[in-house]
Amino acid sequence: MVKHQHALYSSTRRQGNLSDWQLYRRLLSYVLPYWYFFLFSLLGYLVYSLGNVLLADLMQFLLDSLTESSDVAKGIISGLAYRFFDGDQMGKLEFARIAVPVAIVLLTLTRSTGFFVGTYFMNHVARHLVHELRCELFNKMLAAPSAYYDSHSQGVLISKITFNVEQVAGAATKALKIIVRESLTVAALLSYMLYLNWRLCLVFLAVMPFIALVVIVVGRHFRRYSRRIQASMGDVTQVSNESIGAYKEVRIFGGQSQQQERFAGASEYNRVQSLKLALADALSTPVIQTLLAFALGALVWFALSPDILAGFSAGSLVAFLTAAGQLGKPIRQLSGVQSVVQRGLAAAEDIFAQLDQEEEIDQGKHMIGRADGDISIVHLSFTYPGTDTQVLQDVSLEITAGQTVALVGRSGSGKSTLVQLLARFYPIVDGEILLDGVAIEQYELANLRSQLALVSQQVTLFHDTVYNNIAYGMLSDATEEMVLAASESAYARDFIEQLPRGFQTMLGDDGGGLSGGQRQRIAIARAILKDAPVLILDEATAALDNESEHRIQRALDAIMVERTTIVIAHRLSTVERADTIVVMDAGRIIATGSHTELLAQGGLYAQLYYQEFTD
Ligand SMILES: Nc1ncnc2c1ncn2[C@@H]1O[C@H](COP(=O)(O)OP(=O)(O)OP(=O)(O)O)[C@@H](O)[C@H]1O
Ligand SMILES: [Mg+2]
Repeated sequence: MVKHQHALYSSTRRQGNLSDWQLYRRLLSYVLPYWYFFLFSLLGYLVYSLGNVLLADLMQFLLDSLTESSDVAKGIISGLAYRFFDGDQMGKLEFARIAVPVAIVLLTLTRSTGFFVGTYFMNHVARHLVHELRCELFNKMLAAPSAYYDSHSQGVLISKITFNVEQVAGAATKALKIIVRESLTVAALLSYMLYLNWRLCLVFLAVMPFIALVVIVVGRHFRRYSRRIQASMGDVTQVSNESIGAYKEVRIFGGQSQQQERFAGASEYNRVQSLKLALADALSTPVIQTLLAFALGALVWFALSPDILAGFSAGSLVAFLTAAGQLGKPIRQLSGVQSVVQRGLAAAEDIFAQLDQEEEIDQGKHMIGRADGDISIVHLSFTYPGTDTQVLQDVSLEITAGQTVALVGRSGSGKSTLVQLLARFYPIVDGEILLDGVAIEQYELANLRSQLALVSQQVTLFHDTVYNNIAYGMLSDATEEMVLAASESAYARDFIEQLPRGFQTMLGDDGGGLSGGQRQRIAIARAILKDAPVLILDEATAALDNESEHRIQRALDAIMVERTTIVIAHRLSTVERADTIVVMDAGRIIATGSHTELLAQGGLYAQLYYQEFTD
């Protein structure tokens, strides 16, 4: 399990090939449209951090008002207070007794307003960033080519949309706020200290390079662990997803312990990596604090030296030390938020790698209203991307508009592959498929697909009402009569009306609560409702009893007249009446003809047909 994890990790690592700088720039491009909110937020936090400085300055006001001598340099607030109010008349202490409390309240009010503005607008920006990233990622998945889904696990993809995006959210909301606010505070405090006594301040600044070093080294570790945590979350989601979806198989085949082991393995890996991250996190803050303590100690040592003391009033010395002491909190917060930032960056790396994946090729421009339905397949050979067995070999076939063609052949002979290529689920490399004489690549993808209605071998239903499952997607504007008629033709209306809430019954995930045959009939109704010029039925009635199949067949007969229909069926009795029957074997067409012709030839078709009846 752990080995597998490492493989996963290394694949994430390879994807994250953006440099940090590119990463920041790209993240910034999402923030840019909201620059004015960002600016508001900055202003708010600026006010907030200046407020912090002025609190230190207020200490000076307070302390200096206790000493009688009047020749000490005034601080910022006391200077302002004396400028605007005639304090000298009432004596220093009395003046301070009024001015300091008023200043405290005013200062806190301003500071709080700054905090509010800063926090709210920063969240505004960050939430937009997250929303856009998430939607982009989702849209990307809707546009991903089939090969992408063949090679990625569902759980891992889901975890990218849920977990990874949330990691960016954490960095964008919590971390960004802290970074902006606390850096401004640090900058303001340092400037204030420089202003009070720049030489003393340099003593303090001497530890900064060490702190920076710690931050950088720890940051690298954070990023590495974050990537692994992410990959393990993908695995956790994957195993849960699979176990939930296949809960019956798990139980019948006694797979619980196997699933548990896989899950525990993924979760354990996650635990170890999270703990490593926590270790680095827990270590870095005390180290930084110790460094700060050294700086503060040195500061006091120098500050109390007689030379320097001479230039300070008691008030300004306390103000200086208060400011220096106040630096501890923002620096601690800044170093503490590193792990969140690195998690976010690792996630952003992965998200951007996803966003940079190729989409389905859609370069065709040809658009038509309603196709006639002539299909020609010309010397088509096909190998699934990433594999090396040819599953279709030199297939050529002419289907005239309005014909019904049946594809038959053993399992794995390439029947489904052929119709998937027609719908352009995979790009054709070798040979051609033409619809109405135009190569399918030349059509605009959506236009091409609008000409096809497909009932695929694995029926998929959505977590929605029966009605919406039939009138799905582009069919959602169909009238109720049309939906009812389509379900009638699919021989589905009777059973739907007997459901607890009829057409408005909610289906569970992927049609949970329905029988296999019922699900198939809903899928057929959906395809009939689409009323496309080309109808493809891939084992569409395989789950039905003979009677239902017979009735659907009769309804379909009427529908098939007006369109080209491709029927794939294992039960040969259902395709007897097709205009042409195409027999496939191992990726090749080995015979074509009508039912009687093929039987007369006595080849594979006859063999399969008689087998069916002797069984
Ligand atoms: N997504 C895929 N990636 C790689 N190989 C695939 C993929 N789908 C199918 N194949 C392979 O292509 C071959 C043809 O499969 P296809 O699904 O077209 O068979 P079929 O004739 O529809 O069979 P069945 O009657 O069982 O549905 C099989 O050998 C299968 O293993
Ligand atoms: Mg198939």
